[in-house]
Amino acid sequence: MIIKTAEYLISVPKVEMAPHSDRPEYAFIGRSNVGKSSLINMLTDHSKLALTSGRPGKTRMINYFNINKDWYLVDLPGYGYAQTGKQRRQNWRKMIEEYFLLRISMQCAFLLIDSGVPPQDIDIEFANWLGENQIPFVIVFTKTDKKKARQGDNHIRAFKQKLGEYWEQLPPCYLSSAETKRGREELLEFIESVNAN
Ligand code: GTP
Ligand code: MG
Repeated sequence: MIIKTAEYLISVPKVEMAPHSDRPEYAFIGRSNVGKSSLINMLTDHSKLALTSGRPGKTRMINYFNINKDWYLVDLPGYGYAQTGKQRRQNWRKMIEEYFLLRISMQCAFLLIDSGVPPQDIDIEFANWLGENQIPFVIVFTKTDKKKARQGDNHIRAFKQKLGEYWEQLPPCYLSSAETKRGREELLEFIESVNAN
C-alpha cells in the first residue's frame, strides 16, 4: 500500500472523546519504550509524526493519525514503566481497557514486543488479556536491527513458546525495525487486506 498522506489528528485522554468511529483503525500497544511511536513513523515514512523518546513514558494519551484520509493509526501509551505511580498505572489501565473494549472501529491491535529482551511476564499478561477479551491482535517483534541478532531470535522463540503455553493458536507474528524499515511492506499489506474486507 502507498501512504499518500499521514496527518496528526487529535490526542484524547479517554475513548469517549475519540473521533467518530467511521473508519477502520489500528492501535499500537506494548511496553513503554518498545518502539510504538517509532513504528508508526516508519510505516508512514514521516520521521516526526508520532513523538518518540529514549525515555520511557513519552506517549500519555490516545493519539490519532489520519492515513490517506481513509483510516487511522492510533498510538497508545505503553505499560510497565517502572517509575510510574499506582494512580497513573490505574488510570492507564482504565484508559486502555476501555479503549479496546469499547472502540468498535478498532480492527486489529499491534502488540509490540522488544526482540532484545527475554520474555517479560507483563507482555504475556497483556497478550492474555487481549486474547481473553477476544480483541483481534498481531504481534510485532521490534528492534530486530540491534546487534545481538541471534539472541533476538532466541528471545522471539522463547516468547512464542511461553505464549503457546496459554493458547493453542498464536496470532500472526511480524519482525520489524524502525531503523532498517524491516517489516514495513508486510505490515502495510496486512492493513490493506483488513481494510479491504
Ligand atoms: P512510550 O511512548 O514511552 O510508550 O514508548 P514507545 O513504545 O512509543 O517507544 P519510542 O518509539 O518512543 O522508542 C523508544 C526508543 O527506542 C527510542 O530511543 C527509539 O529511537 C528506539 N527505537 C524504536 N524502534 C527502534 C528500532 O527498531 N531499532 C532501534 N535500534 N531502536 C529503536
Ligand atoms: Mg510512544
